[in-house]
Amino acid sequence: MAANIAHDIRNPLGSIELFASLLERDLKKNESGQKLTRSIIKGVRTINSIISNILLFTKEIQIEKSEHHVADIVDDVILYMQHLMRDKNIKFINKIDEEHLISCDMELFKQVVMNIVHNAIDAVGTEGKIVMESFSEEKISGFKVTDNGTGIGTDMRKKLFIPFQTTKAKGTGLGLAIVYKIIKAHEGNITVDSDGCSFTSFTIELPIKG
Ligand SMILES: Nc1ncnc2c1ncn2[C@@H]1O[C@H](COP(=O)(O)OP(=O)(O)O)[C@@H](O)[C@H]1O
Ligand SMILES: [Mg+2]
Repeated sequence: MAANIAHDIRNPLGSIELFASLLERDLKKNESGQKLTRSIIKGVRTINSIISNILLFTKEIQIEKSEHHVADIVDDVILYMQHLMRDKNIKFINKIDEEHLISCDMELFKQVVMNIVHNAIDAVGTEGKIVMESFSEEKISGFKVTDNGTGIGTDMRKKLFIPFQTTKAKGTGLGLAIVYKIIKAHEGNITVDSDGCSFTSFTIELPIKG
């Protein structure tokens, strides 16, 4: 049921995004026109991400694991979110090792990276910076996302992964609950580190198969 509704909403959204992209290309010499079309694309992508979260929240997660380069997942997500980053003039520092592999469901992990990066984008102000790095140890492999935003206070840190917990006026509080659900389905782990005022760092660890 939810999947059908989501599908019905996604189809026209796909057309809106495509037409807005074509319009943006046509408006090369019209700075303000381009800005408006970018806003349409940004809005559509945000709606799409919310729909994905609602869908993932309502259904049981089925994972199809295979080996993927962390760098490929991150590149895809960053490309998709470039409008949001550009809007806020965010410096994205990619320290992901091109060689690092993780065993995961690629589509679900894109949603993980998207939700975490989206929160980082929301949290930073001027001089915003988001750093992504990967690591690999004997039995685990993973990545870390750090931002120099508002930080997360102690109270919020305790309930971060509980659904519908949000401090944002227009937040759903579903992003991190989904992230948690996906990571647990992969038998992985997520930890958060923050001083509550100037940085937040999420670390995701996944078991290496074998
Ligand atoms: N990088 C971050 N910096 C500051 N606060 C964060 C960050 N990531 C998450 N949060 C906090 O966690 C809350 C829950 O996040 P999330 O589950 O994604 O829901 P939403 O983004 O809809 O609020 C946010 O409202 C915010 O208070
Ligand atoms: Mg969020």
